[in-house]
Amino acid sequence: MSTAQYEYILTARPEPGVALITLNRPKALNALSTPLFLELGKALGEADADAEVGAIVLTGSEKAFAAGADIKEMKDKEFSDVYKNNFLENWQTALTTIRKPIIAAVSGYALGGGCELALMCDIILASPTAKFGQPEIALGVIPGGGGSQRLTRAIGKSRAMELVLTGKQITAQQAESWGMVSRVVGEGEGEVVKEAVAMAKEIAVKGQIAVQAGKEAVNAAHELNLAEGLRFERRIFHGLFATKDQKEGMAAFAEKRKPNFTHS
Ligand code: CAA
Repeated sequence: MSTAQYEYILTARPEPGVALITLNRPKALNALSTPLFLELGKALGEADADAEVGAIVLTGSEKAFAAGADIKEMKDKEFSDVYKNNFLENWQTALTTIRKPIIAAVSGYALGGGCELALMCDIILASPTAKFGQPEIALGVIPGGGGSQRLTRAIGKSRAMELVLTGKQITAQQAESWGMVSRVVGEGEGEVVKEAVAMAKEIAVKGQIAVQAGKEAVNAAHELNLAEGLRFERRIFHGLFATKDQKEGMAAFAEKRKPNFTHS
């Protein structure tokens, strides 16, 4: 995975097992154009397929995680184009088919599609400068990348309604108190990325099968009712007894040593 092959994103391996993807369209505040999203989807797919990678961090710049879908690209589109070509459907495919955990490290603006992109990740860490919002209403549209659905599940109907219908922004602290982000990290340039990479490293040393199973089970909580979700969780839990990592993890505990997971 080399940065040279991409124009709108940067890729790096800041720690063993950790893939870092940085949106890099600074002049447009990382507006999510189609070419950018195609590159993002490719880089995510590569990280997911790479056996050395255990977790992925997705970030933007200090000023903007992403200021939304590219308005200049969208403005002249017609209903027939967007409907026929299922505009934005590829966002969902690019993000939600990834089996490894994705941590969003958000600084600055995460608006519209930028907020939706963060919500498609598994964990959101926010810098104190982060600003979240769904301003599409001011453009004569509504969120089209999952904002009305994922945001409502994250913060509840009344708050989501307020953001979607007024288009107002909320601070990182507000997003934390509403349960939209895991936490606000310390101040300072790059702090949120450092913190996300440290978290990704902590995840990457665990058994990848259990990590992916954990992600699948938590995501099922959004899709299944409680009885189905509990059954799904238990079946996956049972299945993990067929892995070497379960034997290793429990043996290591009993022998008072660190486990050496082989992801098998
Ligand atoms: N699309 C295209 N270009 C964008 C953009 C976007 N979403 N957001 C910012 N830019 C561009 C600006 O046009 C400007 O380009 P020029 O220098 O060529 O004029 C450059 O980025 C810098 O932006 P500003 O000068 O506006 O910077 P600012 O600091 O004054 O304001 C901002 C920052 C409040 C984020 C403002 O840029 C803004 O309101 N952006 C649009 C936010 C928005 O409406 N997002 C939702 C998009 S629709 C969507 O996402 C649909 C969906 O659900 C998927």
